[in-house]
Amino acid sequence: MKITIIGTGYVGLVTGACFAEVGHNVICVDNDAQKVRVLQSGGIPNYEPGLEEIVQKNVDEGRLRFTESTQDGVENSDVIFIAVPTPPQQDGSVDLSFIEKVAREIATYMKSYKIVVDKSTVPVKTGEKVAETLRRYTKTNVDCDVVSNPEFLREGFAVEDFLRPERIVIGVFSQRPVKAMKEIYAPFNAPIIVTDINSAELIKHAANSFLAMKISYINAISVICESTGADVIEVANGIGMDSRIGRRFLDAGIGFGGSCFPKDLSAFIKISEEIGYDFRLLKEVRRINAEQMDRFIKKITDTIWVLKDKTIGVLGLAFKQNTDDVRMSPAIELCKRLQKTGTKLRVHDPKAMEKARAVLTNVTYVEDMNNVAEGCDALVIATEWEIFKKLDLERARKSMTHPIMFDGRNLFDPEEMEKLGWIYKSVGRK
Ligand code: UDX
Repeated sequence: MKITIIGTGYVGLVTGACFAEVGHNVICVDNDAQKVRVLQSGGIPNYEPGLEEIVQKNVDEGRLRFTESTQDGVENSDVIFIAVPTPPQQDGSVDLSFIEKVAREIATYMKSYKIVVDKSTVPVKTGEKVAETLRRYTKTNVDCDVVSNPEFLREGFAVEDFLRPERIVIGVFSQRPVKAMKEIYAPFNAPIIVTDINSAELIKHAANSFLAMKISYINAISVICESTGADVIEVANGIGMDSRIGRRFLDAGIGFGGSCFPKDLSAFIKISEEIGYDFRLLKEVRRINAEQMDRFIKKITDTIWVLKDKTIGVLGLAFKQNTDDVRMSPAIELCKRLQKTGTKLRVHDPKAMEKARAVLTNVTYVEDMNNVAEGCDALVIATEWEIFKKLDLERARKSMTHPIMFDGRNLFDPEEMEKLGWIYKSVGRK
């Protein structure tokens, strides 16, 4: 199939590269000239495991190319995927101006039948607006179909998730584009759900809100655990073995962040409000998430007392492991709130230091995770990077003023830590 992807952000680039990887011919369009140049010269703008390799391989083998020209992309493909940002606005609603602009551009350059697929996360009923826009702005009378095909990629695992999806959701107005969509996804051997376009759009918001709810649920349980001497990991394991619940997304900590959950939750609350439903359940999910951070900071202040002029080492800046993304990162929020108390920070992240420098200043960036603790009054784990489990605990302990660790991601075993001489405080455990 000849496919064009408009927008080479996290989602667009992974989609383009993975489609090429399974044999489709792909053009990736981006209006950011600098980004296109980076991609054309073999680089990738964001760290994503496995992505650079498949981009390079498919460019070399002639199945993937990059351009700034939407016209080129539209004229030289049958199926056009829209993967542009849908950023949040002040009131929580979604800014759809990039989607609208791209729809207008596609309409302008469309000279034959096209399938226009929305991959960006959008409010329910956006597909109807995209279809209207395409009809309104086409110069010729050519026909097109609009499809909703939400993505469920996790950053850090996006390539793996794309190549081995648990399901593909295809939302359509009519059966006409279904055959081509199934053909595009045939190489992935995944169950395909064909549904109406509004349901497809809702599936995305409903899925992300549910996952956020799972995290807030276990975080609420962690509060009960702390006041009763129970262990949240034991509870998560115990409930997670029930296949109706499942163990994943039951890791308590300092809360969820990133460019999806907070934004999608607010958008879903707003969409519901607009249709007259007060989604109080999701408002509570958001509140629990915010309180989880407050509680963690209180734990630090209760233990250390005066934070002013103390030095705290922070391991982790990315919003989660395996990514360099610091957007809406709980780790960055934590650092900023500690800075407000006059605390000095020594910080490290295996991948996100470069991106963090733009949003977090007046801290000491430490290249080696084993040097972070030096001279610190406490050490904080803010991101769940696996590599932090390999921290040289003995060296860290000896180099600190006081060996206190606040583990916001429950990476270590409390008993072990005590044995090693640490004052160890984690989330939802003794
Ligand atoms: C999410 C969805 O998982 C994905 O399907 C969707 O397409 C985009 O949004 P992503 O934002 O990449 O993916 O990250 P995810 O792995 O879901 O983690 C989100 C946040 O939740 C992170 O801050 C993570 O640290 C936190 N989290 C996750 C927890 O606190 N506990 C958990 O058990 C799981």
